[in-house]
Amino acid sequence: MGRTEKKILGKNAEVIIEALKRAYCDELRIFHYFWYVGINMEGIGLVTYAAALKTQATGEMAHAELLADRISELGDIAPSNPAEWEKYSTIGPLDPAKHLTLRAALERALDFEGMAVENYNNLAKKALELGDFVTYNLAATIMADEVKDEQHTEDVLKSLELK
Ligand SMILES: [Fe+2]
Ligand SMILES: [Fe+2]
Repeated sequence: MGRTEKKILGKNAEVIIEALKRAYCDELRIFHYFWYVGINMEGIGLVTYAAALKTQATGEMAHAELLADRISELGDIAPSNPAEWEKYSTIGPLDPAKHLTLRAALERALDFEGMAVENYNNLAKKALELGDFVTYNLAATIMADEVKDEQHTEDVLKSLELK
């Protein structure tokens, strides 16, 4: 951590790092979910929606990178062991192989995109409260993406003709 930011944040940095690590684990698991479902999708979704899921996967991976960069800036390092990802994560069990049809995939996605919106909202609030404006800005930026993700998922689910 740069010495000035260290002086400004003091012990509060630990609280922020903890939240950033959780978010990082969520993003990587969500990345993997979209990527895996995009490759292994079953039924009509394979021809209509698999590519969109792969694109979404790269968006989530970009979030993970932004979080990892901020964790490094604060003097720590993102959780490297995949076994830790589920432990730190806030979005519950997530086995993409259980959600391979379009509707099932989107329904699970709607659930965790909503959680992501809440998590980044909480992180933004916490960062603001602790005077960490850099993390506040990051959380607000990622949150805007997650709001779009949730809305988009909701819209696609609504327009599905197959029940
Ligand atoms: Fe994300
Ligand atoms: Fe998302």
